[in-house]
Amino acid sequence: MSRITVHGDRPAGRISRHIYGHFAEHLGRCIYEGFWVGEDSAIPNVRGIRRDMVEALRRIRPAVLRWPGGCFADEYHWTDGIGPRASRPTMINTHWGKVVESNHFGTHEFFDLCEMLGADPYICGNVGSGTVAEMQQWVEYCTFDGVSPLSERRRRNGRDDPWRLPYFGVGNENWGCGGNMRPEHYADLYRRYQTYVRNFGGNRIFKIACGPNGGDERWTEVLMQEAGRHMQGLSLHHYSGPGRGAASRSATRFGEPEWYAVLSSALRMESLVSRHEAIMDRHDPERRVALVVDEWGAWYEVEPGTNPGFLYQQNTMRDALVAAVTLNVFHAHCARVRMANIAQTVNVLQAMALTRGPELLLTPTYHVYDMYQVHQDATLLPVDVDCERHADGGDGIPLLHASASRDGSGTTHLSVCNLDAAAEVEVECALAGLDATEVAARVLAGDAIQSHNTFEEPEAVAPGELAGAVLGTRTLRLRLPAHSVAVLALR
Ligand code: AHR
Repeated sequence: MSRITVHGDRPAGRISRHIYGHFAEHLGRCIYEGFWVGEDSAIPNVRGIRRDMVEALRRIRPAVLRWPGGCFADEYHWTDGIGPRASRPTMINTHWGKVVESNHFGTHEFFDLCEMLGADPYICGNVGSGTVAEMQQWVEYCTFDGVSPLSERRRRNGRDDPWRLPYFGVGNENWGCGGNMRPEHYADLYRRYQTYVRNFGGNRIFKIACGPNGGDERWTEVLMQEAGRHMQGLSLHHYSGPGRGAASRSATRFGEPEWYAVLSSALRMESLVSRHEAIMDRHDPERRVALVVDEWGAWYEVEPGTNPGFLYQQNTMRDALVAAVTLNVFHAHCARVRMANIAQTVNVLQAMALTRGPELLLTPTYHVYDMYQVHQDATLLPVDVDCERHADGGDGIPLLHASASRDGSGTTHLSVCNLDAAAEVEVECALAGLDATEVAARVLAGDAIQSHNTFEEPEAVAPGELAGAVLGTRTLRLRLPAHSVAVLALR
């Protein structure tokens, strides 16, 4: 028997809804086809943006959308993406497949998309190959409420009012594709570039510095020491995968060893966040600077027959578990992790949706975001989990993973993941300080660990009701199917 204790009597801070953020890069079929089909497309669209994608995402309340990259951001020159579309210059997307970028989706289209989604815009600026002036002018173009050559240009391009731009990233992966810099060099550049990321009118920008690659603690140390006082957020990127030696790197054709290896790699987020937090705590004990995990998710081999530069991959129950355990980790660290952006919303890496022409399917990861949205802006309730561990995947991994929160109406939500590839689990929960009289539960399972949705069978994996949860006096008993994610509402 596995045990979970939910500490309903120990509220532990707010889970920012921005942990439920997304990321969309000019990469493969994410922007073009995934979001943008153009006004003349036969695919139903609003001002060129596909309607089905907006409707699907709105249902899971995307808190924030990061754009235009990724590695693309440090090659992007924003003035190429404004003005009449027919006269916008093209460029080569050198990072991602060396395809021609039309620049038809640019600044105006991005803000339009964010408005349709109800998501906060998060723009990532170009430090690697862009100038300080270019960054300064982009911010002015978007947010200046007075009369200036740039705000007038915005008006001529069809937008009178300044946009609200709450989040701005000063470069992306500047230790790698964003310029191969040493932390000392980037810290100095960050200080300089961010000086010109200005607040105009009522707009207040939360500036996010490029943070470490996975476990690079020295990067965090130098950034916090040299530039910490100039930032509101420091990013962190971590992708999970089956590891170099894996028998299969496929997204759908894998066995139990790769199931556990990927979950182990995803759970590494716990130690990464803890280690970077410890460094940030020394420099910033008040936790003024947020840790912003603005790229994370599972990364596999591309689907057979697709462009290797497009990073198109399927999404199975394994990815549902990757998403669920990672969100649980972010909840537990919500005092410092105040934004996260899974990579990438559609048709790239661990996507919410996949498209084929006019068709769109929702992935198991989407369903986790749907079930988990009850945690957005809720109060974290700490949990203790006592369960068996699986020996595979490095140091072994817990077979049960959980998180709980209380929302504004007083309902407690408990998310529980069964990481066991083959066996169901019986769980006894102690509900400290919680007097619930009703329980309702949903579960996402799938027939097999490799279960996924296809255009032929788009509902193969979908949430259903979880029967058999029994409430007692401050106790709850439940049985979870193998490889599943459940969310219980206790009232
Ligand atoms: O998400 C794909 C790529 O992964 C991003 O462009 C880059 O920032 C990261 O290395």
